[in-house]
Formats: sequence, C-alpha cells, structure tokens
Amino acid sequence: MSYAHTEVAQIAAISSNRCIGKDNELPWHISADLQHFKAMTTKQNDGDADSIQGIVIMGRKTFESMGSKPLPKRVSFIISTQLDYAEQKNLTDRDDAYVVHNLDDALTQAASLAHGAHLDTIWVIGGEKVFKDAMMYTDRIELTHVDTEISDGDAFFPELPSDFIAAETSDTQHDEKSGLDFQFVSYRRQD
Ligand SMILES: NC(=O)c1ccc[n+]([C@@H]2O[C@H](COP(=O)([O-])OP(=O)(O)OC[C@H]3O[C@@H](n4cnc5c(N)ncnc54)[C@H](OP(=O)(O)O)[C@@H]3O)[C@@H](O)[C@H]2O)c1
Repeated sequence: MSYAHTEVAQIAAISSNRCIGKDNELPWHISADLQHFKAMTTKQNDGDADSIQGIVIMGRKTFESMGSKPLPKRVSFIISTQLDYAEQKNLTDRDDAYVVHNLDDALTQAASLAHGAHLDTIWVIGGEKVFKDAMMYTDRIELTHVDTEISDGDAFFPELPSDFIAAETSDTQHDEKSGLDFQFVSYRRQD
C-alpha cells in the first residue's frame, strides 16, 4: 500500500448506516469531531509555523461543502473533471490549493509535496467516490462512528476491505448540543 512511500490515510465521520453526507452538508454538527479532523490533518512542523502542516485530497463537492475555501495551514488538492474549475474558484494564483482532474494526479502531486515538506501522511478527506477509489492505496482509516442512523443521506463511506483491523478505539463520547454519541476508531491494514 501507500503511494510513492508516503502513508495514505482516510478520515471520515460516518453514521451507523455509513452515511457521510446529505444535501452536500454533514448530517450532524459535532464540534469535537471537527477539532479531531483539524488535529489529525494538521501537524506542526518543528519550529517553522509558516511551513505546510498537512496535505488533503478531496472531491469537488466536498470542497464546496466547506464553503469553497482551502483548509488553513494545509495544502488542498481538489479533484474535478471541469478543466476551468481553478479559474471558476479563483484558485489559480494560490499555493495552498490545486485543482487536478483525476485521483492519480492528486496522489502523485500530493506525495511529491509531502516529501519536500517532510510530511509522512497524505489525507484523503472525501467524498464517497474519492474514498472508494483511494482505498487500494490506503494504509490507515480514521473513522468517527456517530451513533445515529441517517435515513435520507446521499453520500456514504465504503465498506472497509477485510484486511483492515481496528487498532485503537476511543471511549464513547457524548455531544451535548446534538445529543449524539460518537467514538473515534483508528483502522490499519494487517501485515
Ligand atoms: N462525514 C464526513 O466525514 C464527510 C467527509 C467528506 C465529505 N462529506 C460529505 O459528503 C458529501 C460530498 O461528497 P460526494 O461523495 O457527494 O462528492 P465528492 O466526492 O466530494 O465530489 C464529487 C466530485 O468530485 C469530482 N471527482 C471525484 N472523483 C473524481 C475522479 N476520479 N476524477 C475526476 N473527478 C472526480 C467530480 O467533480 P466534477 O463534478 O466537478 O467533475 C465529482 O462530481 C457532502 O455531503 C459532504 O458534506 C462528509
């Protein structure tokens, strides 16, 4: 697994029926999970606050679901078939967001950047097709299991291949505002 010797990790919050999204939004708002996502995908490089702290790959709809803004302190690779998407979103002059047109280009460019920035991991952050297509390169999956069933969702997380095992499981946590219970589970491929 991995891609050009760089670890590929996926991160998502999923319901009991594997839903991740509804009407291009998250089906819930859990502040502790958003903080978990930020902490996982942002790594402070020693002594240099200006350096890249994370690399994420996402589909066009996920980018738009986050307000069409690149994530702070990280470099975003956004996948779209639309050749003029970078122009549409005024991303052409930025050095923290790149539009690519297939997953291979995203992974190749992200791995090259990771080497230069001394980052060990590339984060795949959704949505459904990107998670599914990137699975064959993926070493680690960080899932937040949200204890709810979403009946009218429209984006789902794929089934994990059978060689992934739960390596670490947090205690169950409770979000006061939404009333939802959730748990962080780290899955890794068995050797
Ligand atoms: N719960 C979570 O952890 C989580 C994480 C991420 C997203 N989400 C949710 O998931 C939903 C969005 O996900 P989604 O599955 O609907 O969409 P998505 O995967 O984010 O975006 C799909 C789009 O990405 C582009 N794309 C994806 N793979 C491609 C490829 N191999 N080659 C070229 N283009 C490719 C296409 O863009 P074009 O149409 O422009 O060609 C495609 O229409 C939202 O509801 C969001 O809130 C949830």
